[in-house]
Parts: sequence; structure tokens; C-alpha cells
Amino acid sequence: MKYYESHEDAYRKIKKNNISSWDEFRKQSESFENFCMKEYLVTTLDKIKPISNARVLEIGCGTGPISCYLAQQGYNVDGIDISQTAIEIAQTNAKDRGLNIHYYVDDICSISKTRSDIYDIIIDGHCMHCITYDTDRHAALTNIFRLLKKSGYFVIETMSMEDSSQWPHSGRIDEQGIVWCEVKENYPYEKVKFEDKYWICTRRIMCSSDLENELKQTGFLVEHIEIKKEEKHEYMADFRAICRKPMSD
Ligand SMILES: C[S@@+](CC[C@H](N)C(=O)[O-])C[C@H]1O[C@@H](n2cnc3c(N)ncnc32)[C@H](O)[C@@H]1O
Repeated sequence: MKYYESHEDAYRKIKKNNISSWDEFRKQSESFENFCMKEYLVTTLDKIKPISNARVLEIGCGTGPISCYLAQQGYNVDGIDISQTAIEIAQTNAKDRGLNIHYYVDDICSISKTRSDIYDIIIDGHCMHCITYDTDRHAALTNIFRLLKKSGYFVIETMSMEDSSQWPHSGRIDEQGIVWCEVKENYPYEKVKFEDKYWICTRRIMCSSDLENELKQTGFLVEHIEIKKEEKHEYMADFRAICRKPMSD
């Protein structure tokens, strides 16, 4: 099982403890409605002014706070997540709110290649930083690019850090910004052995210029970037970008 499939374990805890969302689980928000990306999403939608029934895909939708907000604004929303449990909770959350959202389990790194030019907007609310290796990130971004209509928007909010030596959380970070956490030998997800111990990669925390270059190398026009510094650790930030698929190839 791929390293990022380990999110399933967290969502089983979320379900067992009746927690509404990833942000609440991480103690970054107190309610489903007040998700961390909300303020940025509201200003971004105001800026890009999508057509009223725009088709939107949320990658890594979790239990669905962002997708529900988008559906409440009248958009036609699909949400994918690698975690079966997250998708089941998201479906219940949408049903409870009377929202019609198409949720399904899928992996943005290997999503079917038969579909292209479908979405007006694709949103990443903190999924891309869970995808750590260059090959997986390249696959995910190429798939996002292909699934967007020409002139469509990719809106991303993702963790970033200019100096990786200051990583403040658990685990250790390498020179590429990959965060490693020690696990037991029988840990079921893809792990790596070094220093005679087993490790799983959990995050990729890149600096803003590397994130911007990665988006440009995928083919995106990067129209807007902002960096929101964390209050507690001001060397940590959210990298926010509004990207566009060009009109012509
Ligand atoms: C930090 S959580 C954010 C969840 C959600 N956007 C929210 O705001 O509540 C990241 C999500 O990305 C999902 N994820 C990680 N890798 C994925 C992949 N390769 N394909 C699809 N989803 C993935 C995880 O299961 C998790 O739900």
C-alpha cells in the first residue's frame, strides 16, 4: 500500500471519535463550516468569478468541508479521496446538508487517463503536501492539468517552508523537504529502511520558489501567489496559488 494511503487510519479514528473534519482532528478548526482554507477560497472565487454552474473537482476532499461549501455556492462538485472511510463520511455530510456531490475513492496520482478537459476549477486544500516523491507529484500535477478544461483554474493551498532545518513538528525532514516518521517493522504501508529503523514519508514541505517552478514545469500559468505565514511558527507558511491551464497547447 502506498505511503499516502495511511490517511485511512486517521479517518477511522475521526469516524470513531465523531470528529467532523481533518482540520478539527488536527485542532486547527472547531467546526466543519469553518475550515482552514475558507477565507482564501472565498477571496479566490470572488477574484476568478466562475460561471454559476462551474464543474469543480476537489482532490483529497477528506470528509468534505470544502466540497460542501462549493456545492452550497451552486457549483457542480466532484470530490475524490484515497481514503474509503473519508469518502463514506463525506457522503453522509453531503446528504445531511441536502447537497448533491459526487464523491468517490480515487488516487490523484493514478486517476484514469481516459478523461480530460472536464473541470472549470480543481481545488487542492492540503492534499498535494501529502504526496512526497517527485514521480508521484509529477503524476498528480499532470493528471490535474489534463482534467482541467482549457483556461480552467487550479487553486492550491499547501504547506511550505523556506528553511527546512526549522521543521517544528514530529518526525525529521530531509534536504528535499520530505518529512519522515519512524514506524514499526510490521507497519502495513510503503516504508523505507535507513539507520536500521523503518520510516514512512508523511509530507513534502517545499520552499515557495520550488513550488512555483513545479507548477510552471507542469504547464500552468501561475497568475497569483501569496504566502500566509503561520502565527505560531512564522517560518512555516501556507503557499497559495491560482494557476491556469493555457488556452492553447
Ligand atoms: C490534509 S487532508 C485535507 C482534507 C480536506 N481537503 C479537508 O480540508 O478537510 C489531505 C487529504 O488528502 C488525501 N490524499 C492524500 N493522498 C491522496 C491521493 N494520492 N489521492 C487522493 N487523495 C489523497 C488524504 O486522504 C486526506 O484526506
